This record gives sequence, C-alpha cells and structure tokens, in this order.
Amino acid sequence: MHALEVTHLIKDYPDAAGRPPRRVLDDISFTVDGGESLAIVGPSGCGKSTLLNLIGLLDVPTAGEVQLAGRRVAGLGERERAALRAELLGFVFQLHHLLPQCTVLENVMVPTLALPAGHPNRVGAAERASGLLDRVGLAAQRDQFPGVLSGGERQRVAVVRALINQPKLILADEPTGALDRENAGRVVDLLKSLAGEHQAGLIMVTHDQALAASLQRTLTLE
Ligand SMILES: Nc1ncnc2c1ncn2[C@@H]1O[C@H](COP(=O)(O)OP(=O)(O)O)[C@@H](O)[C@H]1O
Ligand SMILES: [Mg+2]
Repeated sequence: MHALEVTHLIKDYPDAAGRPPRRVLDDISFTVDGGESLAIVGPSGCGKSTLLNLIGLLDVPTAGEVQLAGRRVAGLGERERAALRAELLGFVFQLHHLLPQCTVLENVMVPTLALPAGHPNRVGAAERASGLLDRVGLAAQRDQFPGVLSGGERQRVAVVRALINQPKLILADEPTGALDRENAGRVVDLLKSLAGEHQAGLIMVTHDQALAASLQRTLTLE
C-alpha cells in the first residue's frame, strides 16, 4: 500500500473573465511510499501548490483520484476529509503559522486537538512533543512563545508540529522559502531524517535545486 497514490489528476480553475476554464494540472500520476522523499519543482505559477492542496485534501480535483494510505478520498464530506487530514497528513508551509499566544509545546500539540477523543495519538502527546522538540534542539524553548524565537527555530517548531500525529505523509510547500541558506539546510535535513525515522512519505515543493536534489526523487512540473 502506498502512502500516496495520485492517478490521472486534472485541475481546472474557472476563468473570472468568462473564458473557458484554465487547466493547471493535466493528467498527473505518481506514487509515494512510506520513507520515500519527493521534491516538486517548476516555475512559479505552474501548479505546485495546487497539486499539494489536492493531495492535502484542501481542494478537490476536476478529475482523477487521490488515495491516502490506500483510502480513496473522492466523494468524502468535509468532516471526513478533516478527519483524514488529522490522521494521515502533516503540513509545513512557507510561513510557520504558529499561534503567538501559545507556547512552543502547546503549538506542537495543536494538531492532536483535531483527533477524536480517545484516539491513540492523543495519549502521551505532551511527552511526544517534548521528545520531538529535544530531537530538533529546542528542548530549552518549549515553554517560550514563538515571538522570541528566530525564523529558523520557528520553522523547526513547525516541522515538529507536522510530525506530532505520526502522519503517513508530510506535505511541505516551500518550507525554506523564508529562511537563509544555513537554516534552510537544517530544516530540510530535519524533515528528511524525521520522515525517515517515522517511515512517513515526504513531499516538498522547493525552488532550490540543491535542496531538491537531496531528496530521493524529483517531479518537475512545466
Ligand atoms: N483558487 C484559484 N482560482 C483560480 N486560479 C488559481 C487559484 N489558485 C491558483 N490559481 C492559478 O493557478 C496557477 C497555479 O498556481 P499555484 O498552484 O499556486 O502555482 P505555484 O505554487 O506553482 O506557484 C496560477 O496561474 C494561479 O494564478
Ligand atoms: Mg506555490
């Protein structure tokens, strides 16, 4: 069973001026397995975020299919999609989107709130969060607020938050876009090693050819 299977995916966006819809993704098929890493590259506006949003169940395709951990997602309602997102996916965006009024530890635990009561991943979430923060060198910052952290530290917190529910697939959309080279390298190294340790698939959109080349496979959109 693949962590992700995308089959003949098509996405059209309606045209505001009343012209025919614009086809942004045209017949995309690929798979990602647990422990595998895939970079998605291509020029700005080519549809990278659109593809990630379809995989992340944040949008629905015009045609074609997304399967997450063997589950077909076509036709599911918004509640079921939200449940699958919490259960199977971890997200890292270009901006960290940490909650400023919550501590680092609380931020890392936020995704567990989307799990149903009694879910195994709600048990021991604080210990798991502490362990992950330790793993990325942020144990001493766990009770601080995001406002006092550096950009690189905030993005490392975002990486840990994406792992807290032990996802099958991690989706990262230009996670290093706002970082300098040294911090970018560190964040990608952490994403790769944590995804590998948890046997999660990793899909990362990036403009950086060197970072893309450090992942196992590359998908180039035109
Ligand atoms: N919700 C939307 N409605 C209409 N057009 C969109 C929408 N989202 C993205 N687009 C268009 O689709 C194309 C691909 O966008 P996007 O996936 O964000 O590209 P990338 O992430 O590769 O830069 C762009 O031309 C963008 O303007
Ligand atoms: Mg984008």
